[in-house]
Amino acid sequence: MPKISSVFVCQQCGMRFPQFLGRCPECGSWNSLVEEVEKIVKKGRSEQRKVAGETAKIIQLSDLKKDSFDRLSTKIEEFDRVLGGGIVKGSLSLVSGDPGVGKSTLLSQLALNIKDTLYIAGEESAQQISLRTNRIKNGVSLKILQETDIDLISQVIEREKPPLVIVDSIQTLETADLASPAGSVSQVRECAHRLQQLSKLFHISIFLVGHITKEGTVAGPKTLEHLVDTLVSLEGDELSTFRVLRANKNRFGPSDEVGIFEMAERGLIEVKNPSRVFLEQKINAPGSAVSSLITGMRPLLIEIQALVTKSALPIPRRVGAGVDLQRLQLLIAVLTKRLNLSLFDQDIFVNLTGGIKVMDPAIDLGVSLAIFSSFKNQQIKPKTLLVGEVGLLGEVRSVRNLDKRLREAKKLGFSNILGPHNVKSLAQAVKLALI
Ligand code: TYD
Ligand code: MG
Repeated sequence: MPKISSVFVCQQCGMRFPQFLGRCPECGSWNSLVEEVEKIVKKGRSEQRKVAGETAKIIQLSDLKKDSFDRLSTKIEEFDRVLGGGIVKGSLSLVSGDPGVGKSTLLSQLALNIKDTLYIAGEESAQQISLRTNRIKNGVSLKILQETDIDLISQVIEREKPPLVIVDSIQTLETADLASPAGSVSQVRECAHRLQQLSKLFHISIFLVGHITKEGTVAGPKTLEHLVDTLVSLEGDELSTFRVLRANKNRFGPSDEVGIFEMAERGLIEVKNPSRVFLEQKINAPGSAVSSLITGMRPLLIEIQALVTKSALPIPRRVGAGVDLQRLQLLIAVLTKRLNLSLFDQDIFVNLTGGIKVMDPAIDLGVSLAIFSSFKNQQIKPKTLLVGEVGLLGEVRSVRNLDKRLREAKKLGFSNILGPHNVKSLAQAVKLALI
């Protein structure tokens, strides 16, 4: 057994110290020291491999099969799609999200779908997990390991070799080799690193749960981004029952794919036709517009709501839920200048229904018209879809995958489709869109 000790390494300059210091004496940066495990190995790793008769191999890419990844289906269609066609065997994935969003629920469902999954519970008792799994499906069973010591966990994984391991959550694991508490940057990194080695060595797929936390002593999923193969986040706001599962990084598939779920009585239910669901409750009133976005490969229609009211504050409020605030402010400036709207003393609220967050500039036209419609108290014609980026000169600019968006809109019965293919400017769109 090699002797194990820990060192504190400056994350800025790489200098190593035997104890913690608030400021690195070498480069002068504050709070940059992180505890790391230092293994003193007698022989170098390459030396050991040489003794074992291993040599480095060259691979000819043309010899590889196209999609030669061995995948495991989650039996949840939306989840499979986000992962690029299922869980790749021997991969390490991280599911991040705010507390309470439904990470444990989603992964319990996954555990129930794949036989012999090992669920490592660092946060909840077996009793609590049983309560949840019974809620999802009555009378089911699951293998639970209630442990937080990574060395003991590794032993169990090595012995059992389950096809899938779920760690809920990575922030609760710790190794006795480090003095820092569970949840610190060094513990999270070291534990994840050990799990990564296990997954590669034994060809076991591992899912880690990571809470999004503020930077500081408690390490968030940011620390692990580079280490994992797949990084998915579960998003959704507290008031909405919709949850969006998004691939932010994927070494085995597209990284902008999105799956949509609804939190119901019996866990997370897949939403197979999100456009229809998102528009279900839409009513025709001033301030409501419909636009289109592309998530991964799929077009999705969403409702944009705006409320413009006279402000009682010296600096009026601009609030965007689901839309980028910078972008919103830009669009307000364009509306003010190009359409002569006096919005300077108005509070403006913009909301995307369903709790979705959007960065796609194609919703610009929809957002602008929703604001215009609310300000003028004039409705947008029924069956109108607005798609297009709005430029600083008030022009409507082209967007990617316009064809796909138009097809989806027609399929759902939209007849008045306005976009870069038929309108040139914001002013023209206003004329064609409003009643
Ligand atoms: P949870 O998965 O524990 O969240 P996380 O692990 O991300 O912290 O679940 C969060 C919420 O989901 C909880 O408030 C209860 C709710 N919930 C349902 O509405 N239906 C269900 O079937 C389950 C299991 C949970
Ligand atoms: Mg949880």
